[in-house]
Parts: sequence; structure tokens; C-alpha cells
Amino acid sequence: MKVLVTGGAGFIGSHVVDKLIQEKCQVVIIDDLSTGLRENINPAATFFQLDIRNDKILSLFMREKFDFVIHLAAQTMVHKSLEMPDYDCDINVLGTVNVLEACRKTGVKRIVFSSTAAVYGNVTTLPVMETNPKAPTSFYGLSKLTCESYLSLYKEVYGLDFMILRYANVYGERQGDGGEGGVISIFTRNINRNQPLLIFGDGSQTRDFIYVGDVANANYQSLLVNHANKICNISTQIETSVNILIDHISRISGKMVSRNYNEKREGDIYKSCLSNAVARDDLDWQPHMTLIEGLDKTYHSLI
Ligand SMILES: NC(=O)c1ccc[n+]([C@@H]2O[C@H](COP(=O)([O-])OP(=O)(O)OC[C@H]3O[C@@H](n4cnc5c(N)ncnc54)[C@H](O)[C@@H]3O)[C@@H](O)[C@H]2O)c1
Repeated sequence: MKVLVTGGAGFIGSHVVDKLIQEKCQVVIIDDLSTGLRENINPAATFFQLDIRNDKILSLFMREKFDFVIHLAAQTMVHKSLEMPDYDCDINVLGTVNVLEACRKTGVKRIVFSSTAAVYGNVTTLPVMETNPKAPTSFYGLSKLTCESYLSLYKEVYGLDFMILRYANVYGERQGDGGEGGVISIFTRNINRNQPLLIFGDGSQTRDFIYVGDVANANYQSLLVNHANKICNISTQIETSVNILIDHISRISGKMVSRNYNEKREGDIYKSCLSNAVARDDLDWQPHMTLIEGLDKTYHSLI
């Protein structure tokens, strides 16, 4: 099968591409390299340096005739979305609509969309189910939630099948330190340079850290399932505080780590842990990597 991966030069996208190639898919990548890196691109994939907002993507879709599209290209920074909501909307919403238009005009069978825990906003009851109320606290969360609504209406109006994957905090090899969930790569790099770790808040805030290889598997699995048009959290369903996370990385590094606690940041979610029951049932997927093992791999790849 022929699969287009948007954002395939990025952190998660490059792991998705590797997985697809391992599974003998024919893979094409669109990426503008705004945060992605040429060196992340699997040489077995065909690469086009292109912005997802560019009109040219329609002729590319017409020529290449993709069976599936895995759409990861996005502006991923929560804080940038708060500073420049128009920029976030332009890439994340209008860019996605441009991709959707190309999908429905060229008969793509299914689109897999990378969404986020940020669509839920601050929650009181954990773990968060897919049916929980959605109250994003950033324009990034709002733009992703808006895209989800576009996907569901494209299904209704044009019959384009979708799978929506709402990731918890993804970590692993090749992670940059700018985007969502980059805390592990930032801490790793700082520990390696013997720099203190800057923590926003008291470190008791929690996240659900999911390994990138497990996320890549969920994307591949989304192409295979018979029953599409589902929304699945992709998570470990385990809550880890930032303080505990630092303890783990510190132990792995064998170094003493100094911690600087600062004001908590606007738009940050306090607690996060996503139920993965739907993904287990509907996607026949489950996470395999433990946090300790995943941190060990990540730490040694980033230093
Ligand atoms: N990392 C996480 O923890 C996390 C959590 C939830 C959701 N997500 C989502 O997963 C996806 C991948 O995120 P990531 O962490 O790998 O980030 P990333 O920045 O590494 O990857 C994004 C890729 O998209 C490309 N890109 C950005 N704007 C583009 C444009 N206009 N046209 C073409 N390409 C463009 C970038 O160059 C990059 O290669 C994003 O949609 C993000 O919102 C990530």
C-alpha cells in the first residue's frame, strides 16, 4: 500500500515512516523542514520539501494516488499558539483542510490524524476518556480539536474515513526540545551539559509519557483496522510527576541534578493521564515500552 506521511521528517513522523517501511509500505513524505530534519528521513521513502498549505499538494496527490494519508505536520508549540494564534490556525487548521481537500479529490481511503491530550484541557477526573468534555486551554489544543471536527464532517459529507489518535506526551529518540512533550529531551540535554533543570511549578504536575515506537505502531495499526472513524487516546494510562521523571533520568545518567523551580506557565495542564481502553479494544493496540526502558534508550540516543 502507498502511504503519504506529512511531517515525516519530524520526531514522531520519522518513526512512523520507519515502521511503514519495515512493514513494506511504499512511503512518500511531505515536510517543509521547519522543525523536521533531513537526516531523520528514511532513505527508502520519497521526500518532497513542501508546505502542507501549498496548492501544489493537490497535483502531487493526483500524480501519486495515495491509499492512505498519515497527517502529522503541524505547529506543535503550545506557547507559540498563545503568542500567535493566527499562525497556529494557519498551519494546523488551514493546512489540514488543504490536505483533506486533496484526500477527498483523489480518493484517499483513510486519513490518520495526530491529535493531542491538549484537546481536553484541565481535567478533574483521571484517566481521561475520549468522551470527556473538551475544553482546550491553548489555541494549539483548539486548532487540533477543530481539525477533529473537520475530519468528522469530511466523513459525513464526502465519505472520507478517518482515525483520530490523541497522543499523551510522546518521547523517544530524535525528539527535539521545542515541541509538545519535549521535557524529556530538554532535561536529558541539560543533565548531559551539567546544567540545572528548570521546572515550571513545583514539579508535582503529572504527565502520561508514551514511547514514540508505541505511537508509530498505533499509526500503522490505524491503517489496518476494519472499523475506521474512531477516536483513540494513545497513552500508557500511567501518571508520572515531573519530579519522579527527573529522579528516573538522574538515576539513568548517574549524575547529581540540580533543580530550579519557577512560576507555572500559562496554558499548561496540571494533571494528565489518558485512558487507553478504546485503543486496546478498537485499535487492537497497547503500549509495550516501560518508562524506565524508554528513558534509558532516549537518554543514550540524545547525549
Ligand atoms: N510530541 C508530542 O508529545 C505530541 C503530543 C501530541 C500530539 N503531537 C502531534 O504529533 C505530530 C508530530 O509532532 P512531533 O512532536 O513529531 O513534532 P515535530 O515538530 O518533530 O514534527 C512536525 C513536522 O511537521 C513539519 N511541518 C511543520 N509545519 C509544516 C508545514 N506547514 N508544512 C509541512 N510540514 C510542516 C515539521 O518540519 C516537522 O518535521 C504533530 O501533529 C503534533 O501536534 C505530538
